[in-house]
Amino acid sequence: MSGLALDGKKINQDILNELRPRVEALQAKARPPALAVVLVGDDPASHIYVRNKIKACQDLGIRSIDAAPAAGISTDELLRLIRDFNRDRQVDAILVQSPLPKHIDEKQILLAIDPAKDADGFHPFNVGNLVANRPAPRACTPAGIVEMLKRYRIPLAGKRAVVVGRSDIVGKPMALMLLHENSTVAICHSKTHDLPAECRRAEILVAAIGKPALITREHLSPGVVVIDVGMNRLNDPAVVLRLFGHDPRRLAAFEKNGTTLIGDVDPLAMQEISSAYTPVPGGVGPLTIAMLMANTVQLAESHLASVSGEC
Ligand code: GUN
Repeated sequence: MSGLALDGKKINQDILNELRPRVEALQAKARPPALAVVLVGDDPASHIYVRNKIKACQDLGIRSIDAAPAAGISTDELLRLIRDFNRDRQVDAILVQSPLPKHIDEKQILLAIDPAKDADGFHPFNVGNLVANRPAPRACTPAGIVEMLKRYRIPLAGKRAVVVGRSDIVGKPMALMLLHENSTVAICHSKTHDLPAECRRAEILVAAIGKPALITREHLSPGVVVIDVGMNRLNDPAVVLRLFGHDPRRLAAFEKNGTTLIGDVDPLAMQEISSAYTPVPGGVGPLTIAMLMANTVQLAESHLASVSGEC
């Protein structure tokens, strides 16, 4: 059996196409939606993520306002930048790319973002809205995953879902969103006893750990739906051969580039044992961007409605 590869790129395009008329309507009534993107320092992976986010803004007609302070910026200086964006009525949404350099108090920065401009849904006010299942911007990666599962009509109600990883960005909000879809949810983490046995209980398995191919054959039950959130870079030819020996195209690309991406799940095991799975790359990654655009448009619409209400 080979599981169905869930196509994140197609869902991304569908979502962006649905957003396009809403962006045009905002542009016609007032101005295009505007997203402030704050990237601190020079982490190469963050640069790639942010570049893709800015490109998506450009494609959709969203104005992106890019701020790229040097890694040495202080927490206070960064707070000032955020507060300026909070006050600026031309800015609808603010994103601060994570991780921030170690000397910056990330929690304080997230707390400073106006919850009504919180493009990522990371502000504790909006995390509370998620817990209470009230409308508010939601964390983009888990929101994109739920959107994809719904669009593929993969049933969630009553299903046993196991989320591996308890980050604020993916694991915790993912568990809450699946709970709101009436799944029976377990969260596993580095202290979980017998992770393979816990994972084998899953009908929906979300791997968000950040460790290449940590989830192997022994973690998967036949027919499981696997959502692989991992984006890990492999450079060791022996490891690439072990994990992608079945995939000549991937090996050829690795030969050429000297590097390749892998998720948190063994790719061959995932294909062979699952009923459906998200490939890496091309699965979850594009959904994060689509939901960031959706949050930005929604926030811009809310701002326009509240300004119109003021008149
Ligand atoms: N770092 C990894 N994922 C994300 C995300 O979705 N948003 C932000 N701001 N930073 C991230």
